[in-house]
Amino acid sequence: MTESAFIEMDRVEKVFDVRKKTGFLKREVRRVRAVDSLSFTVARGEMVGYIGPNGAGKSTTIKMLTGILTPSGGRLRVAGIDPSRERTRLAHRIGVVFGQRTTLWWDLPLIDSYRLMHRMYRIPDARYRENLDRLVELLGLGELLDVPVRQLSLGQRMRGDIVAALLHDPEVLYLDEPTIGLDVVSKAKVRDFLRELNTERGTTVLLTTHDLQDIEQLCSRVMVIDHGRMMYDGPLAGLHEAGESERTLVVDLERELPPIEAPAPARVVRVEGPRQWLAFPASQSAAPLVARIAQEYPLVDLSVREPDIEAVIAKMLHSLGDTPKPPPERTTA
Ligand SMILES: Nc1ncnc2c1ncn2[C@@H]1O[C@H](COP(=O)(O)OP(=O)(O)O)[C@@H](O)[C@H]1O
Ligand SMILES: [Mg+2]
Repeated sequence: MTESAFIEMDRVEKVFDVRKKTGFLKREVRRVRAVDSLSFTVARGEMVGYIGPNGAGKSTTIKMLTGILTPSGGRLRVAGIDPSRERTRLAHRIGVVFGQRTTLWWDLPLIDSYRLMHRMYRIPDARYRENLDRLVELLGLGELLDVPVRQLSLGQRMRGDIVAALLHDPEVLYLDEPTIGLDVVSKAKVRDFLRELNTERGTTVLLTTHDLQDIEQLCSRVMVIDHGRMMYDGPLAGLHEAGESERTLVVDLERELPPIEAPAPARVVRVEGPRQWLAFPASQSAAPLVARIAQEYPLVDLSVREPDIEAVIAKMLHSLGDTPKPPPERTTA
């Protein structure tokens, strides 16, 4: 373990015993290994993407890192603190945003939630005011401070939650699906903000997301987990290579034409009237391909579609020879 490691996970396990009634006086306990001997470290100031299929154990990891859940085994430290033992002490140093759930008071105007946090976290007055002003400005919430949370749109509410998570100047921010269900404008705002937070303030960020563009635009490092185990830890480009993932260039021509003759490995995968779809490796830039087509064809419009993250992960796991998971252990109580 390096000295600069801010988050340290060493063979961490989390097992859930799920009890199910199966008959009169009969219960079956199904053991779910949500996190399975997971090890990684994150250095101070890093911004790391944390991805994997549904049920892979991402949220469970974040809950252990915040101290909400206690690991079943292994060793976990954040800023040298054992989260589940000293959850309150750690709370002053971390911020967390769960995309699916708000920490704001539903019936209160946004500003009242912030006032409550000001007191809960005992944030010094000057600090609170300075942070509030800066965050509200950066996330464009100025007009909304007096609006009850229940009346906010999902994107506004999410930005409100991000402000709440950062009022106390945490050293690390955990984000669990912060852009899920957000419109394009809100997504861009959140991304711009996170980039700035990380570069200007040096805040360590662990970002769980389903949106590959979040990772592409923000994270130089990505960790992929599946069945609670680390499957990949490295740059995003490496993930694309391992998964041989492809992006799609959608081209609108002036008129219907035979399939575009594109330089390999790019190729036309679909033609519909004047519109053509070309697949090309996601690890390559679209620019040379676009330039070539623009030069030789009557181009009207074009756009690039990102590969679906689930598809990239599925391909990567497949190419790594992911062994099928054994059936869950069963015990009868
Ligand atoms: N409180 C819980 N009780 C029982 N099983 C749980 C609980 N929380 C999560 N799980 C199970 O643990 C696994 C990992 O869940 P989760 O961490 O939420 O995955 P992800 O966030 O990657 O989608 C899933 O199989 C899920 O059903
Ligand atoms: Mg989750």
